[in-house]
Amino acid sequence: MDLKQYITIVEDYPKEGISFKDITTLMDHGEAYKFATDEIVKYAEKVRADLIVGPEARGFIIGCPVAYALEVGFAPVRKPGKLPRETVSVEYDLEYGTDRLTIHKDAIKPGQRVLIVDDLLATGGTIKATIELVEELGGIVAGCAFLIELAYLDGRKKIEGYDICTLITYDEE
Ligand code: PRP
Ligand code: MG
Repeated sequence: MDLKQYITIVEDYPKEGISFKDITTLMDHGEAYKFATDEIVKYAEKVRADLIVGPEARGFIIGCPVAYALEVGFAPVRKPGKLPRETVSVEYDLEYGTDRLTIHKDAIKPGQRVLIVDDLLATGGTIKATIELVEELGGIVAGCAFLIELAYLDGRKKIEGYDICTLITYDEE
């Protein structure tokens, strides 16, 4: 199945010069959404993941159905102030300035094999921060799966050495 045809490109969103990849038209299409989920499930089985971790918000959309299908847990990575119990956090770079991501301190058991799932690999800042959180808690990053990779932003370079699976690639803007 050619998943790319279900992604809608929105020019100049959220600001001029950005060619936004809208995944909601893929989610709207049950068969495409299931196909994408199943592909990531196969990858998760290959890397023997026993926990899925996903950064808010779009990482939940892609990661939660994978966890459900595998009957493994899902641990959310969230912006500060959203998780009610003790967390660990990490700062990461945005285009302008920095932000912070957090995870519950007991979300991962040391030695657990974690698959990190998100919708998009762009500059790699979000995935790098998420990897840091998983490893701080003693998790083993078994792999990283994305629906879309913007290859021209070189996000892979930030996470060299980690296993990556992407279903749709854009080589140029
Ligand atoms: C988007 C996207 C990825 C991240 C990729 O999330 O969903 O998580 O950016 O960019 P990066 O590789 O340059 O870090 P965003 O922060 O816009 O928030 P959302 O998922 O809550 O919409
Ligand atoms: Mg996101």
